[in-house]
This record gives sequence, structure tokens and C-alpha cells, in this order.
Amino acid sequence: MATIKRSLNNRTCEAPYLIFLGPPGSGKGTQAEKLHQNFRLVQLSTGNLFREHIKNETPLGLRVKDILAKGELVPDDLTVEMVMERLARPDTIMGVVFDGFPRTRDQAVALQNRLDEKGKCVTAAISFQISDEELVERLGARQMCPKDHSTYNLKSNPPREEGKCDLCGSPLIGRDDDKPEVVRNRLRVYRQQTEPLIEFYREQDMLIEIDASRAIEEIEAQLDEWMPMFIQGVNE
Ligand code: AP5
Ligand code: MG
Repeated sequence: MATIKRSLNNRTCEAPYLIFLGPPGSGKGTQAEKLHQNFRLVQLSTGNLFREHIKNETPLGLRVKDILAKGELVPDDLTVEMVMERLARPDTIMGVVFDGFPRTRDQAVALQNRLDEKGKCVTAAISFQISDEELVERLGARQMCPKDHSTYNLKSNPPREEGKCDLCGSPLIGRDDDKPEVVRNRLRVYRQQTEPLIEFYREQDMLIEIDASRAIEEIEAQLDEWMPMFIQGVNE
């Protein structure tokens, strides 16, 4: 990566710590995977971490299984603890994209406090903007790989071979919480508990909005274009 001297709103972070904020189906996971592939940022997806715990039937997984199935939020203390454990791993030092975290004000404050303690900061919160109609359509056609969590869509982003993961060949599955009644609840929960974070980050001059209704490649190109202002300091 080239040395870039620009910074975002004069915040100079050692490495990019980007928050992806947006409703279910807005493409957070899809674009976080791209940032991982293109820039080696760690994709810290709380949804994927919870699903992994559920699959492995860990104590946390057993505790949160019904919560995810209903589309409710996992309590803040459990979520924050899981994120902090993941953040403590050394691979996060070169940057993280938080995919689906924070989702409440308390989670946002906990993250900022922890990054402060480590001498790091949130670089930007990117808000994915899209209409409810488009979300519902996307989630109705989503498929995912249960092994590596890569995401596909029967209409907009099909796998190369029908029903098989491009990366590992595993059979693709639907997500339990993509049933229409659960999607409705996830949207309601998002509006009530997570959407207020847009103002929280706007007030701190950290918010960037992206039109998430565009094609996957267009959004990827836009994020790639913005990356230099997020990585100031990394290569100096
Ligand atoms: P989580 O897994 O984070 O679900 P979510 O936020 O509801 O978001 P999704 O994963 O459904 O959507 P996405 O924005 O990642 O879209 P995607 O890229 O897949 O959380 C699940 C649950 O875990 C929560 O309900 C909660 O219970 C719990 N949880 C998680 N985090 C928590 C937290 N912090 N606190 C408390 N509880 C928490 O794309 C969707 C589809 O569209 C795909 O098929 C994709 O291929 C396609 N697509 C993507 N981009 C485009 C595009 N530009 N054009 C056309 N199609 C596209
Ligand atoms: Mg996701």
C-alpha cells in the first residue's frame, strides 16, 4: 500500500477501525469480506461469531440461540465481552472492520473506551443507506456458507456452481433468521435500537454515508477509493 498523508477529520489512528452500520441485508457482510480480501482487515462480524458459537453448542451459543432465531439483540454485556476477546487477538493490530457492531449506544461507548485504553480510535462509521423493500428482497434470496460464512444471493450474487460455496465447496444454506416474520422483527429492532447510532457518530464527525442500493462492485470501488484516508499512519 502506498504512503498516504490524508486523514479523516484530523483523527490519526494507527490502523483503520471501521464500523459498518446498517439494517439487515444492507450489504455490511458482503463489503466487510471484500475489505478483508483487499486490505487484510479483520472482519469482526458479531453475527458470524454468534452463529459459530451456536453451531459449536458452546455455553454462549446455547444462551443466544433463541435470541438470534427471534431477531432480537443479544444483551450488551455478552456481546461486548465476545468482541473484546476477539479484539485481544494480535491479528487485529493492522485494522478491523466491525460488521454489525456496535448496535446500541452502550456497545458504542464500550468500544470507544476499549480502543482509547489501547491508544486506538474508531476511524469512521460507514452508514449503509437503502430502502426496506430492497432489503426484504435481498434477504429472501440470500444463501450463506455455514463453514466460512461467505455470502451469496440467488439473484444478485450467485455462486459459480449452484448451491456450492465458491471458496470451500460446502453446500450453501439459508439463514434461519431470514424468514419473513423474523426479518420484520430485525428491521424493527434496528430502527429502535441501532439507527440512533447514526446521529451518535454524526455528532462526533465520524459518520460517512454510502448509497447501499448500488451494485456490489460499485460499493466496493467506492470503499477502495476511500481507504487511503482511513490508513494514514499505517505505512509511514
Ligand atoms: P447479523 O448477522 O449481523 O445480521 P444483520 O445485521 O441483520 O445483517 P445481515 O447479516 O442480515 O445483513 P448484511 O448487512 O450483512 O448483508 P449481506 O452482506 O449479508 O446479526 C444476526 C443476529 O445476531 C442479530 O439479529 C442479533 O440477534 C445478533 N447480533 C449480531 N450483532 C449483535 C450486536 N452487536 N448486539 C446484539 N446482538 C447482535 O447481504 C444481504 C444479501 O444481499 C446477500 O444475499 C448478498 O449477497 C446481497 N447483497 C449484498 N450487497 C448487495 C448489493 N449491493 N446489491 C445486491 N445484492 C447485494
Ligand atoms: Mg451480515
